[in-house]
Amino acid sequence: MKLKWKPCCLTLVAAAACVSGFAYAADKVDIGKQEYETSCANCHGLKGEGNGPYMASLKSNVPKLTTLSKNNGGVFPYERVYDTIDGRYLIESHGRDMPIWGNRYCTDVSKRLWDDYPADAESFVRSRILALIDYLNRLQHK
Ligand code: HEC
Repeated sequence: MKLKWKPCCLTLVAAAACVSGFAYAADKVDIGKQEYETSCANCHGLKGEGNGPYMASLKSNVPKLTTLSKNNGGVFPYERVYDTIDGRYLIESHGRDMPIWGNRYCTDVSKRLWDDYPADAESFVRSRILALIDYLNRLQHK
């Protein structure tokens, strides 16, 4: 009896794995990449090389975002980047002269920007920033 159940259980486990695998395979939206391309690529470049089309019209140089870890002793400067994105760490181009994207990550403005905006504004904005940081981390040169 035991021997008959084993293959059966294995089949069930394999089937469950397949079903959940399909569910994940369908979820291919890269939110961080989307955020980056919408809000950052115009200045920082599509691959973070600091060569976006807006760079010519800016007063300051647009830094590469691919060397953030390298410039920080090999560790991604998570907190500084987070604060730069949400505006806590104000840099001139982001918070004053060129507030092109800064407001996107402020809860009040987000309510107007996204249709799927949930009741918990704070966590929604945080998840967008974290997705963006995850993408920036993936852009880092080794
Ligand atoms: C309008 C152009 C512009 C846009 C859009 C923009 N940036 Fe920047 N960013 C700059 C400039 C210029 C600097 C550097 C000058 C400064 O310090 O003000 C900078 C600096 C940074 C830095 C600091 C880099 C370092 O070496 O410390 C980070 C991180 C950064 N940007 C991330 C982002 C992210 C993420 C986005 C999108 C959400 C974004 N930027 C959108 C122009 C832009």
